[in-house]
Formats: sequence, structure tokens, C-alpha cells
Amino acid sequence: MSETGYEAKLPQPLMPGTRVAVLGAGKMGGILVQGFLKNNLLGQDQIAATVQHQDRATALSAQFGVTVTTDNRAAAAWADVILLGVKPVQVPGLMAQIKPALTAGKLLLSFAASVTTGAIEQAAGLDLGVVRAMPNTPAMISAGVTALCAGRFVSAEQMSIAQKIFATVGRTVVVDEKHMDAVTGLSGSGPAFLYIIIEALAEAGVNVGLPRDVATLLAAQTTLGSARMVLETGYHPALLKDQVTTPAGCTVDGILELEEGGLRVTLIKAVKRATMRARELASGK
Ligand SMILES: NC(=O)c1ccc[n+]([C@@H]2O[C@H](COP(=O)([O-])OP(=O)(O)OC[C@H]3O[C@@H](n4cnc5c(N)ncnc54)[C@H](OP(=O)(O)O)[C@@H]3O)[C@@H](O)[C@H]2O)c1
Repeated sequence: MSETGYEAKLPQPLMPGTRVAVLGAGKMGGILVQGFLKNNLLGQDQIAATVQHQDRATALSAQFGVTVTTDNRAAAAWADVILLGVKPVQVPGLMAQIKPALTAGKLLLSFAASVTTGAIEQAAGLDLGVVRAMPNTPAMISAGVTALCAGRFVSAEQMSIAQKIFATVGRTVVVDEKHMDAVTGLSGSGPAFLYIIIEALAEAGVNVGLPRDVATLLAAQTTLGSARMVLETGYHPALLKDQVTTPAGCTVDGILELEEGGLRVTLIKAVKRATMRARELASGK
């Protein structure tokens, strides 16, 4: 017991004792490390990370208060759960580096687009639990969504660890691996598509005379509120759209413009193109 007794009330990590290494702590890996710490999934001494450049390792270490190095093998040897966060084309090289450090019972959790669990299992060279995940950047504010799929050797306990890890930064959904490239095209790339829509709505607000800050707030909060209506009411988006669209009102005039401009088809094509591109990434094309 301490003198004040306050230490006993400090929140305990949700995964006591588990050691997690994020190999390739770039944009997404950094978001995850920050999310794990902020949401108290892990303590600072339970996380290690690696990057390619020493100067970035030093800066990240200072930023997060965790050990960050360029030594993938040492980090993999130390960790129970190893997150693979390098670019898809860099995964084979990374796997070759860490292979000697892989032992039974470790969990490999890859969030690299396009790289299959089969490819990772083969590179590991032993029957290791592999989970493939596709998070998105709203994980930064714990509003992400991550799709997960299991490799051949994953136990139920390992799958639930993977879900717990990503649940700290948003929602999770388990899918068949055949859907992972489609997930990449929809929710992985989706934030970029939606930022363009929000930016365009805000620009439109400015065009009809609103101050830019007001227009941006209206556009973003309207997008957030509409998304929450879909999730929280469970109603089909078309039904919710109909509630806004009064006969001979202003909304239907706006919708006609959207249809003429092909917004709907353009978004469908954007997700299809991103999905097709996701299929190629691991091959380095
Ligand atoms: N960004 C997204 O929205 C998003 C969403 C879902 C999934 N992903 C996936 O996340 C992965 C990373 O994407 P990102 O956007 O975060 O890219 P990024 O910012 O370029 O991060 C890649 C990181 O890998 C590090 N790295 C490169 N080679 C390495 C090596 N041999 N050993 C250790 N670290 C190494 C880089 O180190 P340096 O910093 O020193 O260069 C960098 O920090 C990709 O596979 C991508 O498919 C990204």
C-alpha cells in the first residue's frame, strides 16, 4: 500500500502480462500504439515497436514512452503478440528477419493489405496462429472499424485476443478471408472517400454563403449524425433518405442533381477499383 493509497486506484491494463510488438509503426501502427495506451489495453512496458529509420525510432520512443528500435527480430523474440504493420511488399522481407524468433504459441497479427494468412503461415515455417486484420484511420479516435479473419492454426483464444486488441480502437467484425480485399476497398480506403465528400459539402456551403468553419462543422456533423442513424436505428439508408425528402421539397431537387452527376455509381466504382488494387499490392505491382 502506498502512502496515499491512490496508486491502487490506477486503472489496470486490460491484457496484463501480454507483450505486444508492432513491427512497422508508421501511420497505422502509430495510431494503434497510441490507441492501446490511451485505452489502457496495455501498459508502456508491454509494448515494443520497430521502424526502419533510427531517427524515427528515437522520436516515436519519446512520443509514446515505449521501446522503439529497428531490430525486428529482437522485438519478435520478446513479444507474445506480433503485429505486422509494414507495407504489403515488405512483409516477406520482415518475415524472413523474424522467422528465427518465432516459437509455438506466439500470435502473428498482420494488418498489411493484400497479404494472405497462408503467405504468412508459409513464411513462418511452423503451424503458428495468424490473424489478418484491416483497420482504418478513425482508429485514432477509437471510432475505427476493423475486419478480422483467421488463419488455419488460430485458436479461439487467439482470435479473441486479436478482437480485443482492435476493439480498443473501434468496432470489429469477423469475415471470411475471401472478403478482405473488399473490406480494404470499402472501410480501409473509405475514410478518404468520405473526407472528399465532407470537403465538397463544406465547399458547397461556402458557395451558398456560409462561413467556412460553419460549413465544415455542418458538413462533418451531418455526416456523423447520418452514419449514427444508420447504425443505431438499423433502418435501411433509403428509408432514412425518404424521411428527409418531402414531396416537391428542396431535398429531392438536390438528389436529382446527385443522380445526374453520378455520385452513386462513382462511389461504387471507387470501391471496386480500390478492391482490385488491394488484390495486387502484395505482389508489389
Ligand atoms: N494507412 C491506412 O489507412 C491503413 C489502413 C489499413 C491498413 N494499412 C496497412 O498498414 C501498413 C502500413 O501502412 P501505413 O499507411 O501505416 O504506412 P507507413 O506510414 O509508410 O508505415 C510503414 C512503416 O513501416 C516501417 N518499416 C519499413 N520497413 C521496415 C522494416 N524492415 N522493419 C521495421 N519497420 C519498417 C516504416 O519505418 P520508417 O518510419 O522508419 O520509414 C514505417 O514506419 C500497410 O501494409 C497498409 O496496407 C494502412
